[in-house]
Amino acid sequence: MTDKLNSGSIETIMKETRAFPPSKSFTDQAHINDSDSYQKIWKDSQKHPEKFWEKEALSLYWHEKWHTTHEWKEPFSKWFLGGKINVSYNCLDRHLPERKDKLAFIWEGEDGSVRKFTYQDLYEEVSQLANAMETELHLKAGDTAAIYMPLIPEAVIAMLACARIGVAHSIVFAGFSATSLKDRIQDAECKVVFTADIGFRRGQVLDLIKTVREATTECPSVVKTILLRRDSLTTLAPKEIDWEKLTTKQSRQHTAQPFDSEHPLFYLYTSGTTGKPKGIVHSSGGYLVGTSVTTKWVFDLKEEDIYWCTADIGWITGHSYVVYGPLSNGATSVIYEGGPLHPHPGRVWEIIDKHQVTILYTAPTAIRAFMRAGDEYPQKYRLNSLRLLGSVGEPINPEAWIWYHQQIGKGRCPIVDTWWQTETGSILIAPIPGVTTLKPGSATKPFPGIVADIVNEEGHSCAANEGGYLIIRHPWPSMLRTIHKNPERFKEQYWSKFKGMYFTGDGAHRDEEGYFWIKGRVDDVINVSGHRLGTMEIESALVSHPRVAEAAVVGRPDELKGQSIVAFVIPRDSKEKINTQSLQQELKTHVAKEIGSLARPDEIIFTKILPKTRSGKIMRRFLKDLAAGKEISGDTTTLENPGLIELIKS
Ligand code: WTA
Repeated sequence: MTDKLNSGSIETIMKETRAFPPSKSFTDQAHINDSDSYQKIWKDSQKHPEKFWEKEALSLYWHEKWHTTHEWKEPFSKWFLGGKINVSYNCLDRHLPERKDKLAFIWEGEDGSVRKFTYQDLYEEVSQLANAMETELHLKAGDTAAIYMPLIPEAVIAMLACARIGVAHSIVFAGFSATSLKDRIQDAECKVVFTADIGFRRGQVLDLIKTVREATTECPSVVKTILLRRDSLTTLAPKEIDWEKLTTKQSRQHTAQPFDSEHPLFYLYTSGTTGKPKGIVHSSGGYLVGTSVTTKWVFDLKEEDIYWCTADIGWITGHSYVVYGPLSNGATSVIYEGGPLHPHPGRVWEIIDKHQVTILYTAPTAIRAFMRAGDEYPQKYRLNSLRLLGSVGEPINPEAWIWYHQQIGKGRCPIVDTWWQTETGSILIAPIPGVTTLKPGSATKPFPGIVADIVNEEGHSCAANEGGYLIIRHPWPSMLRTIHKNPERFKEQYWSKFKGMYFTGDGAHRDEEGYFWIKGRVDDVINVSGHRLGTMEIESALVSHPRVAEAAVVGRPDELKGQSIVAFVIPRDSKEKINTQSLQQELKTHVAKEIGSLARPDEIIFTKILPKTRSGKIMRRFLKDLAAGKEISGDTTTLENPGLIELIKS
């Protein structure tokens, strides 16, 4: 298969391998392996979604059962009303009788060091921190805490301690800049910040505390920073408490209080089409029901599995499929702090063999990077513990799918391509591995209880193979509840384009067998290496530079990253001769400083004008085509042609 791939006959392979029915060896062992029964569950769930979710919700521990399954006052949805639940209890205490000594996490550092936590260990660490938060920091239900940490067990401990006492966490990916962190802390009015002095990635030491100190100088809501000192030389600044000192004397037991099912569990800021990133609000009960059942069904999770989701906790995938989904199922997970190709391109395969990982969940960008590094790396390892592979965050191209299937899964592991969003909380479209026939590049079909459709501009269902907008017709338990402090934007963004339907912002089509093929965003959000960025956010960062008059940012298709960032910039001094090379560098650094290096433009094109409509709106469609080197819709204009832009050269 790989030889064929290398000889460039991918089209032949695609024709030969259009569909992968579930293999007998996998199906025999799978939780869900009876296609007829599954079809019945699925069909019933489309007619009566509430019934499906109600049944699944019973697998969690409720301090008090709900009286009403769902209340829908468009666009606001509530689930399991009257129900009382504690998310942390469901992830820890509930497992203690029978899984006390079972590993919850195996952490590996970039240098190969390992730390292991059983469910009992995790419970005790979380209890100590929760006790300290209550008695020393005087935090209470309804407060908010920021978490700006590397991927280490303490980050998970902070999340679970917050959940335990009803404090909503707001995790900010530790690659974001001080400005981005400050904006998020201010918006959520966080009372404390959990952080570590340093992090490690690709052989480099990241100075996290420096960023936190810079950010919090302008955050009056923050009373304390809880600092985990990994480097013994780090000293404490005013308002900082040492993590160890805070927790060590605390009791290793803590009684979890029940909270209302709708109590906010966390805020997570994500990029949208306009303005600054928005604080997506997730609930407790509904969110946990969604993440828990999807983890079990989509990954066919079993008691003995060693599961590894490579996402960082700074993103929704980390929240739902590193922490809440696996822990609520009592699973053993691997977490890794470091670059996936560092110090060598076989690092991920080495970890899989070392810890005998059975389920691997990662992103297409990573898969393409592994593929580019060469087959010789995975071939050095056995990889025989693997039984299931997952993909998330961006469309996976069939070539990468087939490589993943052959080189990593050795043809024996099903691939679950999972479509979902920060807003959806849990996976909405994905195969059920024991029953779904897979097609490379398709996320296949909606999960039970999810009523998805593809509609045209008028909101009518599209015919087979007709492209349109992906929408969800019925609310689901793990759906975002609102945008923090901005219910209007919530309504406008998700519930206004089509009456009574949740608008995802993605374009898609469905084939004649009902399979969904997601193409990507139809709005001004771009997806770079599976990270969501708003073009307007990057434009704002660019125009905040004194030498920039105007900026327009678009995504350009990129073989490795899915999309790369291209900025068209009108400099203030466009009449003078400018050194485009040095200005380009200066602006890239400026964006990285303003937002974080993940937003650094790949290319900056200097121009004297930008194509605009009469009302002054930038015509991004043209810029997208220009950036991609395409002809402009029927017209032969190219980047060099006058009219749309006027290039400035050094
Ligand atoms: C894209 C990540 C195709 C999509 C969980 C969505 C995907 C956005 C897939 C959400 C997939 C995610 N196939 N596209 N399997 N999964 N996307 O909020 O455009 O970071 O709207 O959530 O990623 O990104 P977010």
